[in-house]
Amino acid sequence: MKDWIKKGVVYQVYPRSFKDGNNDGIGDLRGLISKLEYIRDLGANIIWMNPIYPSPNDDMGYDISDYRDIMPEFGTMDDFEELLAKAHSLGIKIMLDLVVNHTSDEHQWFKDSVARKGKYTDFYIWRDPKDGKEPNNWGGSFQGSAWEYVPERGQYYLHLFSKKQPDLNWENPQVRQEVYSLMKFWLDKGIDGFRMDVINYISKPKELPDGKVGANGFGDFHPIALNGPRQNEFLREMNEKVLSQYDIVTVGETVMVKPEHALHYANLDGSELDMVFHFQHMGVDSGKYGKWSDNRFDFMKLKRILSDWQEKLNGKAWNSLYWDNHDQPRGVSRFGDDSTEEYRTKSAKMIATCLYLMQGTPYILEGDELGMTNVAFDDIEDYEDIDTRNSYKAFTEKGVPHEEMMRYVHRHSRDNGRTPMQWDDSENAGFSKAKPWLKVNPNYRTINAAAEIKDPDSVYNYYRKLLEFRKNSDLVIDGDFTLTNADDTQIFSYERRLNGKALYVFCNFSNKNTKKLDFKGKEILGNYNDVSDCLRPYEAIVFED
Ligand code: NOJ
Repeated sequence: MKDWIKKGVVYQVYPRSFKDGNNDGIGDLRGLISKLEYIRDLGANIIWMNPIYPSPNDDMGYDISDYRDIMPEFGTMDDFEELLAKAHSLGIKIMLDLVVNHTSDEHQWFKDSVARKGKYTDFYIWRDPKDGKEPNNWGGSFQGSAWEYVPERGQYYLHLFSKKQPDLNWENPQVRQEVYSLMKFWLDKGIDGFRMDVINYISKPKELPDGKVGANGFGDFHPIALNGPRQNEFLREMNEKVLSQYDIVTVGETVMVKPEHALHYANLDGSELDMVFHFQHMGVDSGKYGKWSDNRFDFMKLKRILSDWQEKLNGKAWNSLYWDNHDQPRGVSRFGDDSTEEYRTKSAKMIATCLYLMQGTPYILEGDELGMTNVAFDDIEDYEDIDTRNSYKAFTEKGVPHEEMMRYVHRHSRDNGRTPMQWDDSENAGFSKAKPWLKVNPNYRTINAAAEIKDPDSVYNYYRKLLEFRKNSDLVIDGDFTLTNADDTQIFSYERRLNGKALYVFCNFSNKNTKKLDFKGKEILGNYNDVSDCLRPYEAIVFED
């Protein structure tokens, strides 16, 4: 594992929502260029940008119609090259999103595939109708069937996401060649790595049997289509032909993986990827409608999952550390407590301490360093996310009352992680002078970068301290991890050990004082006001000896 990846800190930029440089209401590359120093000053040194390629935006850029260009709303290739050069001059690396499980249905490959043109005929997963209907019962991730009929071909194509996102046929070696070639296009421009979208969906079994019917009335493809038979083979081939030839970082978005899978996908021998994003800790608050729930998370489950990943990967594979991203609720609203201003700032610092001192590479979603929270729009029309809109429609049509569904939307809509970055307290949070594409969170008047940079006790300034500490600590980078107080229902605590030295981390995830604790050693970091013999609500404390 490369040292710069182990010591790196990734800052996730959702370009549409980060900073609008030309005041059309949509974030863009020039906006990002103007804020690179902000990211450097925070202490991050790798940026992961969500997709920036031309796209009809059915799924906000995850439906790509041209892999070798820039979405006009975001700028031009010249802007991108300027961004890359400036980032590099500031010591920041750039990771792009690689979305190659599927393309947009507006991609030329798909149009040629529909028309059965030459080599493109089998670029996608086409099947004949079965008894005049869909080839199997699979539902797409955004509701409805995972199949769409195309009269022109007399066949259905598979789309595990929206019908505007047809799945590529990775069994076809020519598809793989095209993917490797577009990867090289960006790597040869000098980018520093890829975050790979749903990368463990690429190998599907030849037979596509029915799945078990779930709450949405469709069959679940996940246990059948994920981690498929040729998954490791495809990643190794990609690694051999492309990844191994560059000094880059890769992280695979991998749904339904356990530590056992990561020992292949993210093993330290570098034969596949550097890291994966697993989702086990994203499932600790799901309910009878899956993620659409307002359950408080199961703390004991969370502890077990995160420590399991630490213990099982130690010395064998490398972890990614994240609380949220553009598909998830805000970490502070979900795992912390945003019910009062005091609890919000305390718990935002506490959850960061808990996660970012574990073994692995931290990922920070833009605005997490400010303690940005979930948003609760009253009107479903204010949500832009296809998943939120389609799920609202599907579940309310099945009888879930509007009020109940809105509670779930407020908790789990992907737009929670996508509202515009809160730069200052001016109109539109300083994100844009025009009406933003997605409404800003009204709490920007108190929660914003300008105010937090000035306040020594802010979440922002705590993040800076924490990242600075992390960077200089061998214990944090390489130490072994042991969970302590395993049965305690309030405290998440652990030790990191290396060469006879130890680091102790104690975090109180509850709004009550903890039991009496014996803090050995000397406190070096934390969000406490003064050290007492217990942790008060949402306090975190770090010792070394
Ligand atoms: C995962 C991405 O993070 C999400 O935003 C997208 O909708 C799906 N993959 C499909 O590309």
